[in-house]
Order: sequence, then structure tokens, then C-alpha cells
Amino acid sequence: MKNLILSASASLLAIALSAGAAKADPNGCDSGETVIKFSHVVADSGHPKGDAARLLAKNINEQMEGKACMEVYPNSTLYDDDKVMEAMLLGDVQLAAPSLSKFEAYTKKLRLYDLPFLFSSIEAANAYMASDDAKALLAAVEPEGYKGLGYITSGLKQFSANKPLLMPEDAAGLKFRVQTSDVAVAMIEALKASAQKLAFKEVYGALQTGVVDGQENSWCNIYTQKFFEVQDGITNTNHQILAYGMITSQEFLDSLDDETREQFLTIVDDTLKQANQQVADQEANCRQQIADAGSTIRELSPEQRKAWVDVMKPVWQQFEGDIGADVIATAAGYDKSN
Ligand code: LMR
Repeated sequence: MKNLILSASASLLAIALSAGAAKADPNGCDSGETVIKFSHVVADSGHPKGDAARLLAKNINEQMEGKACMEVYPNSTLYDDDKVMEAMLLGDVQLAAPSLSKFEAYTKKLRLYDLPFLFSSIEAANAYMASDDAKALLAAVEPEGYKGLGYITSGLKQFSANKPLLMPEDAAGLKFRVQTSDVAVAMIEALKASAQKLAFKEVYGALQTGVVDGQENSWCNIYTQKFFEVQDGITNTNHQILAYGMITSQEFLDSLDDETREQFLTIVDDTLKQANQQVADQEANCRQQIADAGSTIRELSPEQRKAWVDVMKPVWQQFEGDIGADVIATAAGYDKSN
């Protein structure tokens, strides 16, 4: 199979076809090829994960033609992040990249990445996630039957709400949507606000109908999911890294012959390195598009930023036992602001 990226999006298919070779049957892989389904929840393009998935599909479909082919299912069209983990162990999907916040049911070690103000830049986060220490941390999912293949960075998170947020006190009494992360809940409670765990696909509706008042996410999620349309504005808090664990199942890897497995792992590794280099630019672009759409983006003064840090950073202590003080110290050492 060549250059086929199966998705719910006609535009994505158009891009795939225009990028090179078409395929006689655009609805599936060639017989005899190992099918690799990648299910994720974000936009199919214009987003670090969506674009990384498309790039990976392109590389696999070009370089593994006749042996394997990859299909991408974006936008929660196949599974949401909870279901995809179960589907993977059942062999219904072979690749997924849930946010690291969503691994709580499998390991508490990855809570590291939810610690507020751990990384103040995408570059610092990327540097840590490329390290052997970070790779070893991802191996915490292995006892459950998964295999961590690497990280995809998405960006730093920003707060938005149905009222202006400049000081932590502005968030008091509001309800924020969070991912399935107890660190995020603790962080929101430190603001004297309340947290509601909701699936990603439910966030826009919850903001629109007032089920929640605010949310926190990367610029590209805020832009591609149109959260900015139903919020008063976005505050440039940069308070947490949003990143993904690229996973497969050990059973799937074991099903490949040695040569195919080696080639697959090499392509994944090369693609993730390439994709992660684009993230800062992609995020800047999403931020600009939000501004161009007329949404208010609020910058914090150094004093205001310090107030958010002072309120939220103490939650680190609550999770030190789960993560390990040494692990936190090592990761924090990659960012000079700590
Ligand atoms: C969220 O649920 O807010 C994000 O994890 C979605 C994603 O994958 O970026």
C-alpha cells in the first residue's frame, strides 16, 4: 500500500493523494500487509499529534510497502483515550498516543509530566523527553502489556475561562475541565476552584453550555477544537506540558518478524524526532490563529506569573511519593527556571 492515510476526513485523504501515489482501493490495505491502526482524539492536521500521525503513516506506507500499512483515525472517530487502551490489548488498534495524564490507571510514575511549572518551555521538555531517564520512565507501562515507543510533545498548557484570568484568585470558585489526572485536580483545587474530569470530545459542549467555566490546554487544542469561541479569552500561563506517550502492545510487536519490527521501530523513532522539532512553530501558529480570530489573549506580568507559580507549584509535594523525588529532580534539572 502506498501513501494511504485512512481517516474520516476527506481533506486528509486529498492531501495524502496529492502528496504522491494513490491507491486503487482507498478503503484498505493490500492483502498480506500488516495493518497498523493509529487511533487518536485530536484534529487530523494543524496539530502536533495529528501531523505526527500523518507523517508516520506516510513514512510507514512508503518505506514498508508490501509488509505493513498504517491507517490513522483522528478526532475520536474510532476510540476515545480511555477505550483505546483496552482496544489495544484486544488487538483492535496497534498505535495510540494518549496524553501522559491519561496513564493514571496504569502507572503513577508518569504523573511527573502533570506537575505544574515543571518545564517553562517546549525546548526544555523536549530535552528531558529525549533523555534515557525519560525513556526509562515510559517503560512503566510495560507490566500492563504495553510498549512505550517514545514521546510526542504537544505544547504548554494555557488556562481559559468565561471571565478574565490574570491572578490565581480570578479562578477561585470556577469549575475547570481537566483530563483524568489527579495532579490536575490538585492543581485546580489549589486555585480554590473545582475540577471536573471530562473526555476531550466533550469539552467544547461543556464550555458552551456552562457545565464547566474554563479549561486548560495547548494552543493547538484550543484552536482546532474551537474552545476559544466559547471562552472570554485565553491567559498565557504556560503552566504545564502537554505531551503524549506513543504506545503499542507487546503482543503486536511480538507478532512481527525481527526485520519488520526493527524497521517499524526505526521509522517510529525517526518520525517522532522529526515531529517534535516542529512543535514550537506549530503552537505559535495556532496561537496566532486564535488572535487573528479576534479572541483575547492575556499576558501575565512577572508578578502575576509568580503568583500562579506560588499557588500551584506546592502540589509537587503531594505526588513526590508516586513519582519519586529523584525522578522529579532530574526532570526539573532540564529547566533553568526551577
Ligand atoms: C485532552 O484530553 O485535553 C488532551 O489530552 C487531548 C490530546 O490528546 O491532546
